[in-house]
Amino acid sequence: QIKNLEKQFEERIARDEKIEPKDWMPEKYRKTHIRQMSQHAHSEIVGMLPEGNWITRAPSLRRKVALLAKVQDEAGHGLYLYSATETLGISRDEMYEQLHTGKAKYSSIFNYPTVTWADMGAIGWLVDGAAIINQVPLCNTSYGPYARAMIRVCKEESFHQRQGYEIMMKLANGTPEQKEMAQDALNRWWWPSLMMLGPTDAESIHTEQSMKWKLKRKSNDDLRQQFIDQTVPQADLIGLTIPDPDLKWNEERQSYDFGDIDWDEFWQVVKGHGPMNKERMKARVGAWEVGEWVRDAAMAYADKKQERKEK
Ligand code: ACO
Repeated sequence: QIKNLEKQFEERIARDEKIEPKDWMPEKYRKTHIRQMSQHAHSEIVGMLPEGNWITRAPSLRRKVALLAKVQDEAGHGLYLYSATETLGISRDEMYEQLHTGKAKYSSIFNYPTVTWADMGAIGWLVDGAAIINQVPLCNTSYGPYARAMIRVCKEESFHQRQGYEIMMKLANGTPEQKEMAQDALNRWWWPSLMMLGPTDAESIHTEQSMKWKLKRKSNDDLRQQFIDQTVPQADLIGLTIPDPDLKWNEERQSYDFGDIDWDEFWQVVKGHGPMNKERMKARVGAWEVGEWVRDAAMAYADKKQERKEK
């Protein structure tokens, strides 16, 4: 019986049919989707913190409005993705619990500090740029609710990327100090942005199975190469230098060769020892605890409304 269901499931995947919440699915398919989707949701939520840090210090009203809108979008993406993950039979409380106890991961990139205004530019340009490259293929992923969520998310990410690049462009064309600030932000965010796309294919434990199930449509290394090839000309255009002495156009491959990534740093950050891991978790857990009365009040209000209805 199970074998038959599995066979039908594999055939549906092969036909590029979407799998929907009430459809039969292998337990491992369900679990790995909960893993990836919830980590994705957590990344959006934790991802609000590095930029939230600069909302009150944005250099103009226009910049403040754009940054505020972007951070709000990230909250939306997180909630959207939590809802999509709930369709796989895990509750939101369980997901929060996993994040707060360190059981679930979130993207390594958000464990780096945002020390100058130029970091808002670098994050939008590089981090959201890498996120788009990673997420556009996910619009075509096999699980329906995830694929549909990604369509809207990608549209918004594209606005985020452009607002970041515009900040960098302005700074790069500004005073020497402003240009230096932009270059410094690029120097600090470049390598972590490459790491964000995940370990090398050889080290990636989930890629093979996730590609078979069409959860992942492109491998980590392919996405990384695409990101580099897309971003290098953008840096050239605004006169900034990618901090990689080994970066070189490869005529034969029609792609850039690039230097070694410090994977020790990546795993340190993933394991919780990055520069800001502790602060990020403290902020999230703190917000959860401080918000308890709001949740309680909302529940009490809902109960009261229900009671009135029943009378
Ligand atoms: N940060 C933290 N952990 C990571 C990262 C990263 N950048 N990349 C990989 N890992 C973890 C994986 O979660 C996995 O650990 P787990 O088994 O505990 O889940 C382990 O390292 C091995 O990696 P892979 O086998 O390559 O994992 P996977 O196939 O899930 O690929 C990837 C990782 C590319 C991030 C994938 O999960 C994905 O595409 N996720 C959806 C997009 C996403 O989450 N983006 C987050 C940032 S985008 C944004 O919020 C702006």
